[in-house]
Amino acid sequence: MKLEQLRKSMKMVLKETRYQHVLGVEEVSVDLAVIHGCNPRKAAIAGILHDCAKSLSDEELLSECMKYSLPISEGERKSVYLLHAKVGAAYAKDKYGVEDDDILNAITYHTTGRQGMSLLEKIVFTADYIEPNRKPLPRIEEIRKAAYDYLDLAVYLILENTLDYLKSIGAFIDTRTNETYAYYKNII
Ligand SMILES: [Fe+2]
Ligand SMILES: [Fe+2]
Repeated sequence: MKLEQLRKSMKMVLKETRYQHVLGVEEVSVDLAVIHGCNPRKAAIAGILHDCAKSLSDEELLSECMKYSLPISEGERKSVYLLHAKVGAAYAKDKYGVEDDDILNAITYHTTGRQGMSLLEKIVFTADYIEPNRKPLPRIEEIRKAAYDYLDLAVYLILENTLDYLKSIGAFIDTRTNETYAYYKNII
């Protein structure tokens, strides 16, 4: 499918601020792909589609998981919005014709990350956090710099920030986020 067509589809299904975020993630994903030697077209597709299920309500996310036979983890039961990632991957395949497993995994793991992410997965995970339309976040300049020089460090810093934030508001933390954090802490 053409990139322009995918963008048009996202403009229709997402609210305007989310659509601007998606364009930012696409742009940063392509930049990072060029810098780190990943396929820029795959990065663009994953960036455009990563939040394609973001406008669904919790009820809709749960029913789409039933429809596509997607397993729901304990963490996802508690924080249902996390499911927009795996439902997004199911939509990417079913509605937008994406067959490439690396793109589908980049969408599936863009929220929590996972241990041993592929280059494309790390790019989309990082771009989602550093794209220019995001509200200012702590240590964002340090993370942006790391994203271009040393991607694993950027992934680590993002997870550290995310965990600090979730702890500060007393939110439930998905086990996968903790596992990803431990993994990247160990390799940097
Ligand atoms: Fe997302
Ligand atoms: Fe996003």
